[in-house]
Amino acid sequence: MKVVVISGGASPEHEVSLASGRGIAEAAEQSGHEVVRLVLDPEGYWQDGQAEAIALLQDCDVVIPALHGEGGEDGVIQGFLDQLHVPYVGSGVAASAVGLDKHLTKGILRAQGIPVTPGITVRGADLKDAEAVIQRLKAADIEFPVFVKPGSGGSSFGVTRATDLQTLQAALAVAAELDPHVLVEQEINGREIDLSVMEFPDGRVDVAPALEIHADPDQPFFNAAAKYDSGATKFVVPAPTDPELTEQLRRTALEVFDALGCQGLARVDFFVPADGKPLVNEINTFPGFTAMSQFPRMWAAAGLTYAQVVDNLVRTAAV
Ligand code: DAL
Ligand code: MG
Repeated sequence: MKVVVISGGASPEHEVSLASGRGIAEAAEQSGHEVVRLVLDPEGYWQDGQAEAIALLQDCDVVIPALHGEGGEDGVIQGFLDQLHVPYVGSGVAASAVGLDKHLTKGILRAQGIPVTPGITVRGADLKDAEAVIQRLKAADIEFPVFVKPGSGGSSFGVTRATDLQTLQAALAVAAELDPHVLVEQEINGREIDLSVMEFPDGRVDVAPALEIHADPDQPFFNAAAKYDSGATKFVVPAPTDPELTEQLRRTALEVFDALGCQGLARVDFFVPADGKPLVNEINTFPGFTAMSQFPRMWAAAGLTYAQVVDNLVRTAAV
């Protein structure tokens, strides 16, 4: 098939997306697809001009929007592709938009009875008033330490652990630079486990064996440095989980995929506290996608090579 891989983009995850796009393009070629790469520059414009991009997109069979974060994973590019009437890998406009917005994601999951990390959303004048935020946290039974994160975005950019009034005020300012909505969430002491959901051309939706993250102990959490710069972060696949937890994670990952109306693929990230009851941390509708990233690593444990995973996504999108 003729496949266009889009990567780059205006989000802080530009470089991460270029790495995902590179791996995906090579893998699609290995499977015999004819591949063209299109790059959105760091301002979000087509590197070789919009007219050329549209011509290539309209001439292909399937597009892989290997984009992370705003402008790519949030429904914007999906709407653009819908208007061009080209099939693409992954979720449509609504699921992408909701999936990148942590506030909206949590609202939908809570409404479906799916447990999420306890937290509040802060916006407007409260962003400059950490004391008011602390009162709201108390009312919600949330105590320091907390995690402060932009309402949208990925790779932990703009995320800070706060332990008191001063660090909370600074953390709110950092997160608010990336998004006018900021989440303040309870720190969860426990395990960090990811699940990968993928759709197949026959319409079946399946979940790969879980992956447990052992983040670099020299980092305060699984931050961008632990994700991309550290040799000390380890992934364990399959995660050692007992049959009950395995089934609960699997079922919840499918429920999240379904609740948000996802298509094609998603990675659902969980915390598992000491009581063993998983909490959904977030969903990624186009997760990191180098051969070393969590999503392909989980499918490798299910017996699919990186190239087979990419080929499956292409064939599912083309149905
Ligand atoms: N947002 C990054 C790419 C991830 O979810 O892996
Ligand atoms: Mg994410």
